[in-house]
Amino acid sequence: MAGNSDRYVIRELKEDEVRKFFDMLLEFADYINARETVSNTQDALHRDLFGDTKRCYCLVAERIEDGVLAGYSLYFPGYSLFKGAILHINHLFVREQYRGNGVGTLLYKAVAKKAIDQDCQALDLLVHQSNKKAMEFYERMGAFNQMEGVGRHRMRLTRKRMKDLVKT
Ligand SMILES: CC(C)(COP(=O)(O)OP(=O)(O)OC[C@H]1O[C@@H](n2cnc3c(N)ncnc32)[C@H](O)[C@@H]1OP(=O)(O)O)[C@@H](O)C(=O)NCCC(=O)NCCS
Repeated sequence: MAGNSDRYVIRELKEDEVRKFFDMLLEFADYINARETVSNTQDALHRDLFGDTKRCYCLVAERIEDGVLAGYSLYFPGYSLFKGAILHINHLFVREQYRGNGVGTLLYKAVAKKAIDQDCQALDLLVHQSNKKAMEFYERMGAFNQMEGVGRHRMRLTRKRMKDLVKT
């Protein structure tokens, strides 16, 4: 693993850190030139992470010496009828100035440990085909491209289209 990772601790996001987390999420959106596609809000994120119905969970990497948040991994439970329980990572992100220190590896391993502890059979995430460095990073950790050559596509129904659908 890259050096310096012992200067970071991986822990759960705290409830009073949602704003900081949201700022990192926007940093990630800017990094992939997708800021205009972010329609989630801090309030909704707060509800989904800390409300009565928890929809997702967030681990952050904190730099021990000054408490700065260097990155995050957001994950949530899913299910495969063929395989059983699965955890999905929605983003794994390390802020640019903290990359190459092993922080991404620590975050990925920490979610893998959650998946094992929760008796999950797989840990999935989506990565854009143009993001070769990230693909290599996951492959080095042992992940494989599940979609390659299988001709499967993920079909999304947006909220508006869902509403249209249930109206008819
Ligand atoms: C992918 C990412 C999480 C890795 O985090 P990290 O803390 O830099 O990872 P580590 O230090 O544990 O490992 C470093 C490896 O990550 C790889 N990597 C992947 N994307 C990278 C990037 N944009 N910049 C630097 N390294 C990157 C490098 O190949 C590096 O390997 P090397 O040390 O042999 O050069 C981080 O680079 C990142 O946030 N990238 C931008 C967001 C992204 O693409 N996320 C993945 C899609 S969900």
